[in-house]
Amino acid sequence: MTSPRQTKHEIDHDVLIIGSGAAGLTLALKLAMHCRVAVLSKVAVNQGSTYYAQGGISAVLAESDSIESHINDTLDAGAGLCDPEAVRFTVENGRAAVEWLLDIGVAFTHQPQEQNPSDDSANTLGLHLTREGGHSHRRVAHADDSTGKAIETTLIDQTRNHPQISLFEGHVAIDLITSSSNGSNNGSSSEIEKRCVGAYVLNRETQQVEVFRARFVILASGGASKVYLYTSNPDISTGDGIAMAWRAGCRISNMEFMQFHPTCLYHPHAKSFLVTEAVRGEGGRLLLPDGERFMQRFDERAELAPRDIVARAIDHEMKRLGVDSVFLDISHRSKEFILQHFPTVSARCQKFGYDMTQEPLPVVPAAHYTSGGVMTDLHARTDLDGLYAVGEVACTGLHGANRMASNSLLECIVFAKAAAEDIIPRLQETVESTPIPPWDASQVTDSDERIVVNHNWDELRRFMWDYVGIVRTTKRLQR
Ligand code: FAD
Ligand code: SIN
Repeated sequence: MTSPRQTKHEIDHDVLIIGSGAAGLTLALKLAMHCRVAVLSKVAVNQGSTYYAQGGISAVLAESDSIESHINDTLDAGAGLCDPEAVRFTVENGRAAVEWLLDIGVAFTHQPQEQNPSDDSANTLGLHLTREGGHSHRRVAHADDSTGKAIETTLIDQTRNHPQISLFEGHVAIDLITSSSNGSNNGSSSEIEKRCVGAYVLNRETQQVEVFRARFVILASGGASKVYLYTSNPDISTGDGIAMAWRAGCRISNMEFMQFHPTCLYHPHAKSFLVTEAVRGEGGRLLLPDGERFMQRFDERAELAPRDIVARAIDHEMKRLGVDSVFLDISHRSKEFILQHFPTVSARCQKFGYDMTQEPLPVVPAAHYTSGGVMTDLHARTDLDGLYAVGEVACTGLHGANRMASNSLLECIVFAKAAAEDIIPRLQETVESTPIPPWDASQVTDSDERIVVNHNWDELRRFMWDYVGIVRTTKRLQR
């Protein structure tokens, strides 16, 4: 075990975790009993997708539910392209994941004590379970409609005060550092002998590129949905980890399966604010502008069909009718119920002039989740020795062609634990300390004028939306 060491250009830890969402911080906490951990976040520590998660985390908790049912629902939502082994592994570890979150203090919503659940959601943890698309049971544990905030703030509280964990905010990983056994660094021709030994990282405050050396490096850098013009994701979701792994020689898989969330608020200033699927789980209906329900024409599960089916149906109806949005209506439920279950969503909609207790909300689909990513096994190992990938950046095989609602937070916690269990015994391994050259800035030139950079980024995002969107054609893909 080494202690952190800072030389002129080198910062040294046992483990370097790139990303501070549910995946990165869970792994940091699981490892911190055993070694020194550095966690990077590109901007402020909480600014990943995790903080914005609404609906919840899925797990088999209700007595009437079963592991086989969760597995079958996940396989069905994934349209035949899930890895059954990864699905079983994740689902079987679901209950332990929720129990661990409860143990560290996440304030999940409980079933009111005086109220026996009239449905099939009674569970020994006493949690209120909601429902979302694709799930044949109530199995989504949640903290009102801001589950991600509850999880992320709890994880941050635990990690900030941990003597073995160093958080580096405003630090952008630029590239992984690899070495071959003969000690040569990046650019080595030997793919087999390569090992990941750290990362080059831009310190945004000093504008210097620093070397972070570590015996194990974990990508926990989230997804890539920001590459689309309309997305529910925060700005950090630009696929950096996927690109870095690709450049280091790892296999990337299933990148065509970008998931679109069916219901984001349609308003010019709402930045595709998500209206959680739990609204449909609690009875919300999708309507055309004339008030007609339409989802039953596309799938017998109607509003609770898996997400890809609902998003495609909405896209189809919007194009058929030439309308800007469809509508999501839960106003038939009591005002008290809506405000109690959806305090965050209702307050946000109110801000944009919509009262969801009284009227339908205009909604459109937006890019939401990167189902593909860096290929990993059940220990979260990638193709490169010493490099792991956990969370949305990874492609574990759980999601196949389409992730089922609330299976992502679950995957973050389950695979962070799996990675920790794989790394801890490996901390005894001897890793040759090869010299790492400082960042070579000799080829770096001033970036183009800011307006050109912005123009290119906007163009790329519009291009992805128009040509690589919800429904694709060969002609547009070829173009
Ligand atoms: P993130 O939480 O996205 O964190 C990524 C981290 O990586 C950040 O700290 C970022 O700063 C850092 N990072 C990125 N690039 C770099 C770099 N180059 N250098 C340094 N750091 C970097 N899933 C569910 O299961 N249930 C839900 O209810 C749910 N609701 C959602 C609602 C919204 C609005 C969104 C956007 C997603 C939702 N999801 C939900 C999906 C889920 O939240 C995410 O898939 C999951 O939180 C991803 O966690 P993560 O730890 O992998 O990445
Ligand atoms: C939502 O609350 O609708 C998002 C759930 C998810 O992405 O799993």
